[in-house]
Amino acid sequence: MDISTLSLVRTIDALRTLRNDWQNQGYRVALVPTMGNLHEGHFTLVKAAKALADKVIVSIFVNPLQFGQNEDFDHYPRTLEQDVRALAILGVDAVFAPEAEALYPNRVTKSDEEASTSAVVPPVKLTSILCGKKRNGHFTGVATVVTKLFNLVQPHDALFGQKDYQQVTIIKQLVEDLNLPVNIIVCATARAEDGLALSSRNQYLTQKERIIAPRLYQTLLSMKDILQENPMNIDAVTKQAKATLLASGFDSVEYIDVRHPINLSSLTSVDEAGGVILVAAVLGKTRLIDNLVVEGKRLA
Ligand code: PAF
Repeated sequence: MDISTLSLVRTIDALRTLRNDWQNQGYRVALVPTMGNLHEGHFTLVKAAKALADKVIVSIFVNPLQFGQNEDFDHYPRTLEQDVRALAILGVDAVFAPEAEALYPNRVTKSDEEASTSAVVPPVKLTSILCGKKRNGHFTGVATVVTKLFNLVQPHDALFGQKDYQQVTIIKQLVEDLNLPVNIIVCATARAEDGLALSSRNQYLTQKERIIAPRLYQTLLSMKDILQENPMNIDAVTKQAKATLLASGFDSVEYIDVRHPINLSSLTSVDEAGGVILVAAVLGKTRLIDNLVVEGKRLA
């Protein structure tokens, strides 16, 4: 594997040395935080990062803090060598892939996590809704690791995918609330040709489930059409969409909701500020999420 121009950084000391070097040379640095098992969605973020910064660093870290007790942390796909090879071909300058012990030196065990390590706690009004309802502690785990990565890498820009809409909403507020000097850039969701949002978890889908999965995005598109005609029809549209998904073969719909596009508060109409339709649904053993923005009619 030719990774001669890419630095694979495994320790915090090595990262600091590299970052100081970049700082001395006056480079603009962009960070793409990931949990690895990279796909075209991540590569879209990397390409956008390369277009705006002198140096691009990708972090690859399966963050234990953001997985619940019954979630797939142990089985989450880890493909570091393959990821590094792909990033080298894309011209990425560095990959930061630390061990969990290096990032969380005081964390003891999952069950003792809160007692043992410091955490960054985002506002409850953003973490108690949508994905946060079932994934207790998930966004605290995300906010904690993202804050640590920002502190360590000190990027000028950090790029995230719109697919994780609630996550990027929380990260934007985190940056504002904690005065973190990072420019957050949100890139459009990368999709397969049939519309399915790209995700590392899509590989868990069986062949039959993979055929059903694009119905999620199709349902969002139909909802958007209806809401643009009838902006106050939120209740009826979400009920109908849930029924459609269940009839298509989804096993359950965790939530399907229309929220304010900036602060995720509940809405009665998408007429003014517009809205974002967010969904999480389970297909077999796989939980899929997606979202779609509905533009409002407010004149600038
Ligand atoms: O979106 C992800 O892959 C993760 O939540 C992130 C932002 C890399 C934090 O672990």
